[in-house]
Amino acid sequence: MSIYTYNSTVMDTKKPQIAEENNTPKATKFQRPKGVHDILPDDQEYFTFIKKVVRHRGRQSGFRRISTPIFEFTDVFSRAIGNDTDVVSKEMYTFQDRKGRSLTLKPEGTAGAVRAYIEHNMQTMPQPVELFYIEPHFRYDRPQKGRFRQFWQYGFEIIGESDPALDAQLIYLARNIMEDLGVADLFSLQINSIGCSMPECRPRYIEDLKNYYFGKERSLCEDCRYRVEKNPLRLLDCKIEDCRILASMAPKLKDYLCADCKEFHRQLLDFLKEMKIDYVENPSLVRGLDYYTKTVFEFWDKESGAQNAVGGGGRYDGLVELMGGAPTPAVGFAAGIERIVANMKQEGIKVPKKDDLHVFVAQLGYEAKKKCLTLITKLREAGIKTVGALGKDSMKSQLNHANRFQVPFTIILGITEVRDGTAIIRDMKKGIQKIMPYSKVVEEMKKMIGEDSLDTYSPGEVVY
Ligand code: HAM
Repeated sequence: MSIYTYNSTVMDTKKPQIAEENNTPKATKFQRPKGVHDILPDDQEYFTFIKKVVRHRGRQSGFRRISTPIFEFTDVFSRAIGNDTDVVSKEMYTFQDRKGRSLTLKPEGTAGAVRAYIEHNMQTMPQPVELFYIEPHFRYDRPQKGRFRQFWQYGFEIIGESDPALDAQLIYLARNIMEDLGVADLFSLQINSIGCSMPECRPRYIEDLKNYYFGKERSLCEDCRYRVEKNPLRLLDCKIEDCRILASMAPKLKDYLCADCKEFHRQLLDFLKEMKIDYVENPSLVRGLDYYTKTVFEFWDKESGAQNAVGGGGRYDGLVELMGGAPTPAVGFAAGIERIVANMKQEGIKVPKKDDLHVFVAQLGYEAKKKCLTLITKLREAGIKTVGALGKDSMKSQLNHANRFQVPFTIILGITEVRDGTAIIRDMKKGIQKIMPYSKVVEEMKKMIGEDSLDTYSPGEVVY
C-alpha cells in the first residue's frame, strides 16, 4: 500500500519522489498549468461584483442569459472564426473524444451563441434576440500580463436586426458597464468599418491591398508574409515596426466602402455623438476573428494601446448564414473580466466585501456546544454571517481565532452561561462585553449589526 506525503523538495523537481527508507512514493506538489489561474476568494469578490453589474445592465436592456457548452464540435469555431485566424490556426484546445470526433474548448462566445440561435430556432422568436453570457474561454495564447489560457468574458449578442442604432446602443451598454465598474475613463473607444462582402466593397479593397504588398513581402515579419495570401486585413494591425510603417502607407479601407456601408457607418458615428460617447476613428482597426462586417470596435487602454484591449466586438451580418441559418444580421461585443479586475485593482477601486463575517461563536463544555449549535443556525437564518468554533480548543485560543477572522463581535457561552441561561456578547473592536439572556441574543445581535448589513438575500419564490 502506498502512502502519499507532501515534501517541499518535490516542488523543486516537479517529479514524484520515492522515500528511500520505506519505498513510499511521496506525492507531487501539483501546480496549476501555465497560463491558467485560481480565482481566490478576494478576487471572487471582484468577479461577483462584475457579474452582478453585467446581469443588471443586461436585463435592463432586454438581454437574456445563455450558456453554451464549454466545448463544441471543432467545425463550429473553424467555420465561424476562420481557419486562417490566429485563434483557429494556433490557439485552440482541440481534442478527440473516444469516438474520434474533434471537439474544441470554446475560444470565444459568439460562434456557440450563433450555433444555439440556429439550433433552437430562435429566428421564430421576436427579433432581434438579445443574449448575454458570462463564461470561461480557452486560448493557447502566449501567457503574459492580462493574457491567459483560460479567461472569463462577458459578452452580448443582438441577433436578427440590422441598424446602426443597435450598434450604438450596444456600444453604449459596453461603456455603461465599464462606467459602473469605475474603469471607463481608462479606455478609448476605437472604431472602424471594415465594409461588407459585396464585390465592390471589401473584396475590391483586399485585391488592392494584396497588390500594394506585392513585392514588399521581404520587409514583412513572418506572420505578415503568411497573411498577405491568407488574411490580408490582419496586415493592418501588426505590431512590428516595419510592418506598421508599410501598413500606414497602404490603401485605406474607408476609401473603398460601398454606399450602404458608408451610410451605415456615418449614422453610427452620428448616433454615438448623440449619446455623447467619445470615440477615435481608427482606419487600421481590424479584428482577429473573420466573421465581422461593417462596424468593428475595441476599447483600448489609453496608455498601452491595442496590446491590452479590454473588450471588442462588431457587426457580423454574414455569420448566421455561414453557420447554416437563414441570412440574419447581428452585432455583438465581449470584454475580458481578468483585464477589468486588474484595472479596477490598479485604480484602487474596491467592491462591496460580502464575505466579511459578523459574529464568531465561542463555547466551552459539552452543554455549551449543544446550545451553540442552535444559536449559530438561528443567527445565520436571521442574516447574521456567523462562524463557530465547535472544536475542543481552549477559550483563549478560540478568542485568538475570532481575532484572526476579524469579526466585529464574539458570542461566548461557557458552563456558567449555560447554567444561568445567558450569553456574553463581546465587541471585539472596543474590547467591552455584556451579558444577555440567551433567548434575546439573536435580536440583540440584529440591532448591533444593523438591519442594512444583514445578509437576508432571498432568491424569490417559486410559483406552483
Ligand atoms: P476578442 O477581442 O477576441 O473578441 O475578445 C474579447 C476580449 O476578451 C478581449 O478584448 C480581452 O479583454 C479578452 N481576451 C481575449 N483573449 C484573452 C486572453 N488570452 N486572456 C485574457 N483575456 C482575453 C471576441 O472574443 C468576440 N467573440 C467578441 C464579440 C462578441 N464579437 C461579436 N460578439
